[in-house]
Amino acid sequence: MSIKIMGTGSALPVRTVTNDEIAGMVDTSDQWVRERTGIGSRHVSTGETAASLAAQACSLALKDAGRTAQEVELILAATCTPEDVVPCTACQIQDRIGAENAVAFDLNAACAGFLFALHTAWAYVEAGIAANALVTGSEILSKIVDWEDRGTCVLFGDGAGAVYVEKCGEGGILGFVQHSDGSRGSVLSCVSRPTETPFFRGQESGRYLKMDGREIFSFAVRQIPLTIGEALDKGGLSVQDVDLFILHQANRRIIEGIAKRLSVDISRFPMNLDRVGNTSSASIPLLLDELNREGRLKKGMRLVLSGFGGGLTCGACVLEW
Ligand code: ACO
Repeated sequence: MSIKIMGTGSALPVRTVTNDEIAGMVDTSDQWVRERTGIGSRHVSTGETAASLAAQACSLALKDAGRTAQEVELILAATCTPEDVVPCTACQIQDRIGAENAVAFDLNAACAGFLFALHTAWAYVEAGIAANALVTGSEILSKIVDWEDRGTCVLFGDGAGAVYVEKCGEGGILGFVQHSDGSRGSVLSCVSRPTETPFFRGQESGRYLKMDGREIFSFAVRQIPLTIGEALDKGGLSVQDVDLFILHQANRRIIEGIAKRLSVDISRFPMNLDRVGNTSSASIPLLLDELNREGRLKKGMRLVLSGFGGGLTCGACVLEW
């Protein structure tokens, strides 16, 4: 038994911010950002939250699948930028869309979060705990980015993507791989507020995202081709069998590096990061929804989804559309 994606949805904040606009805030330029990252603009929240965007994306995914919120048995929300600590984003989504029969909880694996959530949904279905799920990745990275740090503020955007999955007898997800390496957590980090209680007072050590860009770059370009290879082995396929590689949209040069290592033409790696930037856990379902709505995903196509992020974490999934 496996799971099949039956519907997709996505949502972006209304406000668009171009590289030129950021160049008015920090010492950078449209040319630098485009050349180094491939990013031209991104959407930034002016009040939208991880839950509000995810709820929109989930509603659209259900509509696409022709299902109602009452039928949903599980809601998994991947996010590292929830609006609230409690209640979790997934419970807020449940309330917003009226999915009163679902079990809902969050999961944080940074930019690989959506894939980790999808794998969890697969495990729930495989174990007979649920027959379907809404899986969403949703981020408001703008609130943890230091808007005075040109090295990071140009990279990220806000948004949400979602898929509705159901158990299926054949096709669907064919192979899945996940990896974590906590020993390299400092490569991409954002500390939480310090503990302040009558018993302990923690040190304030900065509230913003810190990143070793070069380390992330080499981790992704070295590790992701191996991870994709493992997932393909599990699914009994090779890179030649894959129609499209839908990768975490961190950076055009990273995706080009991965394509080169896999000896696959870059045309099989669709991208939307020029318009949305790096939206962390939202990036894979956002792109998937865009391709679905453009009619570029045909029944029987083989897709690879692959993500990597803070933790460090990475994963890959091979599926038949
Ligand atoms: N505009 C202009 N100059 C900049 C900017 C900017 N926005 N950012 C950095 N620079 C400068 C640096 O200050 C440095 O100047 P210096 O030589 O005077 O010190 C110079 O550019 C080179 O800096 P590097 O950090 O060495 O630049 P690099 O070529 O490595 O590019 C980048 C930086 C784009 C971040 C690159 O390392 C990269 O793509 N890394 C991948 C990181 C990534 O995609 N992270 C996404 C989040 S993590 C994730 O999604 C998993």
